[in-house]
Amino acid sequence: MDMEYLDMVVNETLRLYPAANRLERISKKDVQINGVFIPKGTVVMVPTYPLHRDPEYWPEPEEFCPERFSKENKGSINPYVYLPFGYGPRNCLGMRFALISMKFAVVRVLQNFTLQPCEETQIPLKLSKRTIFQPEEPIILKVVSR
Ligand code: HEM
Repeated sequence: MDMEYLDMVVNETLRLYPAANRLERISKKDVQINGVFIPKGTVVMVPTYPLHRDPEYWPEPEEFCPERFSKENKGSINPYVYLPFGYGPRNCLGMRFALISMKFAVVRVLQNFTLQPCEETQIPLKLSKRTIFQPEEPIILKVVSR
């Protein structure tokens, strides 16, 4: 829980590669938001992936930069713009479990191995267009014992 930089790395990874690349809600009543009329029953899509890479909110959005989530910076992040686990009363129920599992997995692997790109590593990584975000091909890396 005290591994601050690991937390920043996981957050930045989920910014660039949000497993759910969009969220959906259904309007419960007719509403008008910023001049747009949304009738009751409309499925409204929240575009997580584009929001996570919008230069208006993220300087140099394509860069992997964990410092965006440092203690000093993370307070300025708009929770409606960073949505790896959704937001509001129907956000991800397993968020804490998922975060601790990811961190635990990274720590256990890195305690024993170093991961390096190799000839078979796809660079740049191609992403699949399926709803749950994943690479088009498996990510192949060279694993070196520490
Ligand atoms: C990295 C891993 C995970 C990511 C990125 C993720 C992301 C999400 C997202 C974006 C939503 C939709 C939230 C919304 O619409 O506002 C969601 C919902 C949900 N997630 Fe996860 N999730 C992860 C892991 C898990 C795990 C491990 C569990 C269970 C142990 C879980 C259980 C749920 C449930 C039950 C919902 C539906 C909540 C509801 O509709 O009230 N998730 N998750």
